[in-house]
Amino acid sequence: MSASTLITLLIVDILAIIIIALIIRGLWEPRHTIIDYAELHAPIGKSRDFVARPIFMHSEDIDGIDKYDLRVLYFSDLHAEYCRYDVGLFEKLIEKEAKGRGLDAVIFGGDIVNDPLNAEVGTEYLSRIAAVCLTNNIPFYGVTGNHDVMIPKDRIDACGFTDLRDKYVTLKSRKGEGVIALTGVYDTGRENRVWYAPASVPTELEDGTRVLANVLLAHNPDYILHLDQLYHDGAIVDPKTVEYDTAAVEEARARASDNYRSCKVTHVLSGHIHGGQIRTPIGIEFSVLRKDILPKKQKVIAGVYEGCGVSLFLSRGLGNILLPLRIFSRPEITIVEIYA
Ligand SMILES: [Fe+2]
Repeated sequence: MSASTLITLLIVDILAIIIIALIIRGLWEPRHTIIDYAELHAPIGKSRDFVARPIFMHSEDIDGIDKYDLRVLYFSDLHAEYCRYDVGLFEKLIEKEAKGRGLDAVIFGGDIVNDPLNAEVGTEYLSRIAAVCLTNNIPFYGVTGNHDVMIPKDRIDACGFTDLRDKYVTLKSRKGEGVIALTGVYDTGRENRVWYAPASVPTELEDGTRVLANVLLAHNPDYILHLDQLYHDGAIVDPKTVEYDTAAVEEARARASDNYRSCKVTHVLSGHIHGGQIRTPIGIEFSVLRKDILPKKQKVIAGVYEGCGVSLFLSRGLGNILLPLRIFSRPEITIVEIYA
C-alpha cells in the first residue's frame, strides 16, 4: 500500500470518527437539559447594536434580602413531540424552586409543538406544568409561537397557562415597592407576518402603585427591532403578507396613541432561535436556514443581551425542531432574576 493511500485512509477514518462522535453528541444533548440562572438588569443605553451581557451569575442571597425584583422560571420552544426532558422532572424542579427561594411566575415563551396536528402532546405536557404551578400557588403565563398559529384556541386554553396575548398582568416587586408589568405578544408566523404593539401599560396603577418595569414576552427576538415603530404605528404588516386579520390591525392602529403614555418595554424574554440547535463553526444555521435578523446580523443567539433600549434574555429552548438532535446547543430551563 502506497503512502498516499495510507494518508487517504487515515483522513477517511478521522472524518468517520468525527461524524460518529457528532451524531452521538447530537443524540445525547437533547436528553441533557441544563437548569441555569440568568440576571436580567434594567437597560442602560439606547444603542441599536446588541451587546452580550454576562449570563449566569447565580446570586447567592448572603444577607437574606432579595436583590432582584422578580424571580421567574422561564422556558421556551417546548416542541413537545421532540422534547426529551421528562415532565416529571420538570414538576419536581418547580416544586424544589417553590420551596427554596420561591418563584414569582413560571413563564412559557411559545412553540408548543412542531406540528399543530400533534397539539395534544403539548397540551398534556403543559397542563401538567400548570397543575404543579396551581398546587404551589405560582402563576403560569405564556404566549404562542410561530409553530402554534394553526392550533385551535381551545387546545391552547387546555395548556393551562394564562395567555398574555394583548394583555398585561402585574407582579409585586420582591423589594416591596411597586410592581413589574408582564405583557405578551403572539407570533403570527413567518408566512403572513404582522407585528403588533404590546398592550399599553400605565406607569402607575389606579391605586398609585408605581410600575417599575415592563417585561415583554415575545417569541421571536426580532420583535425588538420593530418596537419603536410599533409604539408609533400600532401594527406593522410585512410587505409579503397576503392574509391577515385586518380588523385586528385597524384596532391596533387606533390604539397606537395610547402607547405614548404607556410604560415602555424594558425587558424582553424570547426564544425561537434554539441557540441554532445544530451549531456549526461557520454559522450556516443562521445564514442559510433561518431568516431571522438578530442572529444573522448581530450574533444574538442565546443568553443575555442589551440593545434597542431593552434587556433581552434569549432561551435556547427545551425541545427541538425537525429532529430530536442538538449539537453545541443544549436545551435549557432558566431561573431568571429580573431587576427593575
Ligand atoms: Fe421553536
